[in-house]
This record gives sequence, structure tokens and C-alpha cells, in this order.
Amino acid sequence: MPYVTEQNLTDVVLDRWQNIADPRLRQVMTAAIKHLHAFVREVEPTEAEWFTAIDWLTRTGKTCTDKRQEFILASDVFGVSMLVDAINHRLSSAATPTTVEGPFHVADAPELANGASMAEGAPGIPCFVTGKVRGLDGKPIGGAVLDLWQTDGEGYYEAQRDTDGPWMRGLYHSQPDGSYVVHTVAPIAYTIPMDGTVGELMNRTQISHMRPAHIHFCVTAPGFHRLVTHLFQRGDEYIETDVVYGVKEPLIVEFQKKPAGSKAPTGEVVNESFYVINYDFALERAAQAAVAAE
Ligand code: BEZ
Ligand code: FE
Repeated sequence: MPYVTEQNLTDVVLDRWQNIADPRLRQVMTAAIKHLHAFVREVEPTEAEWFTAIDWLTRTGKTCTDKRQEFILASDVFGVSMLVDAINHRLSSAATPTTVEGPFHVADAPELANGASMAEGAPGIPCFVTGKVRGLDGKPIGGAVLDLWQTDGEGYYEAQRDTDGPWMRGLYHSQPDGSYVVHTVAPIAYTIPMDGTVGELMNRTQISHMRPAHIHFCVTAPGFHRLVTHLFQRGDEYIETDVVYGVKEPLIVEFQKKPAGSKAPTGEVVNESFYVINYDFALERAAQAAVAAE
């Protein structure tokens, strides 16, 4: 065995780590070691700096609970979550693009009738989201499930409210003509959790820790690629600096302001001013998405 020197150490380590029968694990570990060594060679950390990094990772792990995942948040702010999302959802440019799921989705949202409110008792400006779910051929998809979650009008998700829920989430189904109507309140921009190790790091930068106002959607229909995405409010001051890099141009939508006394997409007359958002979701066939991803 060659004795190690600063020059040959990376090659010696890489050679040892070829000793893995599983080819994918071998590929992953080879790349991880190569890039980690390259990082250390470039940065030349002092021993104190290296232990600071290890301490940060240790405290990041200790921050994680069944309700909080600080490593995912780190992956989000480093843009890695969006990169993994992009690699795994190489859809046609005509399809509604995907974006990160984020940490606030809660399974088993209540089933709501078309046009029913998912924001009963929540503060905020009334908001109606309406449109159609279609395939890339333009044909309407009836029976698609739209699972929505968002902040209330004060910027809080269910997990951040002292509530047994459900809060600001619901499951809707598209009608036979593909149409859907959601009744909610308008979300607002909010900060990612800043009281953990990610916040500690962000506070040492001049990077914005805000997310622009958005509504999360997971749209599913048999035979179609599962779509996890958001709709963002056009004009939001954080639209170009989203801390998790989730914004894509086709997902920016107009929140159209309607005066009090106007008719909502549900047919009801609303006696305060409200927003209407029009958006048609375009789903790619599952097989098509798999081919595009190859
Ligand atoms: C969110 O959109 O809910 C979110 C996404 C990534 C990090 C924090 C929040
Ligand atoms: Fe969100």
C-alpha cells in the first residue's frame, strides 16, 4: 500500500472505495469523495473551521424532529432540492412545471366540494382559484385530485398555528369538463424558519430568507405524471429572490383584484373585495414523462 501524501491521498482513498459490489453505491461514493476532497483542497480549511462545519452539521441533525427537518431546509436554500426536482421531472415545456414540495404538506387533507372553502375562519383576503386540468393534447381531465396547502393571510401554515386542524388545506376534484374552483384566502410572503442552524447561517449572509406568496398544489390523475407545484403571485417583492429557488416563469399568476359586490367564480356575490386566479394545469402522460426523463 502506498503511504499517503497530500498529493496522492485522494487517489488512495478513491482506490479503496472501489471495493463496493453495488455499482450505484460505488458511483455515488466515488463522486462524493472526489468532490469532497476537491472542496477541501480548494478551501484549505483550518482545523478550527473544519470542526465548526462538523458542529454545524451535528446541531442541524439535533434540530430535526418528526415535525421539523433542518437538513431538507438546508438542501432547499442551497438550491439542491430544486436541482433534484428538475432532474427527476424533465417534463415537456408544454406541461405545468414542478417545484419543491416544501415541509408543510400534511397528508389526508379534508375532501371538499367544488367551490367549497378551505379557509373557514382563517384571516385574509378571500381568493378564488379556478381553471381546468387538461392533458397536453388539451383534453379535459375529469376526476383529477387537487391537493392544496398554503399559508393563511397572516403567513402561517397549519403546523405554525396552535390548531388541531385542518387549516388552509383541502382536496378538490376536477369536474367532468376538467374545471375546478377553489375558495380560499390569499397567501402572503413568509420567511423560512430562521430559529435553527439554517437561519444562523442565513443571518451571516445578505441573502433574503423570504418566499414570495404562493399556493401549493399536488395534482394527480390516473395515467398522468404526478405534479407537485406552486402558483406564485405576480408582482410579489420576493418573486426574483425566492430563498428556495422555486419560482418558474409559467407558475407566476395574476391575483386579479375584484371590488366588493362582484360575482365570484362560485356564482356567489362577495360583499368585500377579493382575488381571482385563473390557471389551467397541463399534465403530462406518465409514460411520456418517463421517456423524457431518460
Ligand atoms: C414552502 O414552500 O412551504 C417551503 C419550501 C421550502 C422551504 C421552506 C418552506
Ligand atoms: Fe410554501
